[in-house]
Amino acid sequence: MRTYNSSASLQTALAAFRSSGQRIAFVPTMGNLHEGHLDLVRKARTLCDVVVVSIFVNPLQFGPNEDLDAYPRTLAADKEKLFAEGVQVLVAPGVEAIYPQGMEAQTVVHVPDLGDTLCGRSRPGHFDGVTTVVSKLFNIVQPDVAVFGEKDFQQLSIVRKMTSDLCMPIEIVGVRTTRDEDGLAKSSRNGYLSPRERATAPLLHQTLAECREAIACGFDNFLQLESHARMKLLQAGFEPDYFAIRDARTLLPVTESTEEIAILAAAQLGTTRLIDNVRLALNPVSDWGMLADG
Ligand code: PAF
Repeated sequence: MRTYNSSASLQTALAAFRSSGQRIAFVPTMGNLHEGHLDLVRKARTLCDVVVVSIFVNPLQFGPNEDLDAYPRTLAADKEKLFAEGVQVLVAPGVEAIYPQGMEAQTVVHVPDLGDTLCGRSRPGHFDGVTTVVSKLFNIVQPDVAVFGEKDFQQLSIVRKMTSDLCMPIEIVGVRTTRDEDGLAKSSRNGYLSPRERATAPLLHQTLAECREAIACGFDNFLQLESHARMKLLQAGFEPDYFAIRDARTLLPVTESTEEIAILAAAQLGTTRLIDNVRLALNPVSDWGMLADG
C-alpha cells in the first residue's frame, strides 16, 4: 500500500492504473477506522480493481463548538487495517494540501433542500463542508465508483444529488450500516461514550426499529410516533435533536407517492452526538409493506 500526502504524485500513480484499464473505487473517510469503514473497503474491492481510501479530518465540516480537536486521529493503526484489507492506495493529506489558501477563501459546494433539513438544520455549514471536501477529493482521485455508509443516510443522499447535479461521472454506492451485536451503529464517536452511556446507546436503534415495526403494522399517525419516540429517548437520558419519519428519496415528509420511508434520528447522549436511521420499503399495492434496512 502506498501513502500519498499531496495530489501530484498520487495523480501520476492513479493515471498508471487507469491507463492499464483498471477501475478505481474510492472510500473517503476521516480515519479512526472501525468495522463499518472496513465493510466499505470490502464492498469497494468487489466493485473495482484498485481501492483508494482517504483519511482526512475535514475542519470545514465541523462547527465552532464541535469536536474537531478531540476527533480521534489514529493513522498508524488505520494504515495497518487498510493494508490487511488489501487497499492499494491511501491518501492522507494535511489541511494545507486540501485548503492551500485557507478555508475562508475556499469555493463551497452547497446542495439545497436535502442539505438544509435534519442534521443540516442543527449543524449549519456541516454539509457544505462535506460536499466541498468530497468534490475536491473526487477531482483529485477521479474514481469510477465511490462508496459511502448508509448510517449517514442524509450525507449519502446529498452526495448522490451533488454528483448527479454536477454531472460527475462517478457511481455512488451505499453500504448497509454495520452494527454492534446490541444494534448500536458503528461510529468513531462511540469511543466518546462512558460505560453507562454505552449501555444506553442501543436504545436509539431499538426506538427506530420499533417505529418502523409500528408503521409496517399499519400505524399511520406519524406525528404521534415521532413524539412518542422522542419522549422515550428523553426519558432514557438522550437529548433528542430530531426523530423524523421522511420520504427516503427527498427527506421531506411522507406523501402518497412515497415509495420508501426513512426514519432518521439524531440525539445527544452526554457529550456525544449519535445518529442512526432505518428504512421501510412501501408495497404500492397494499399500503405499508415490507421491511428494508435495519
Ligand atoms: O463520512 C465521513 O467520514 C465524512 O463526512 C467524509 C465523507 C469522509 C467527508 O469528510
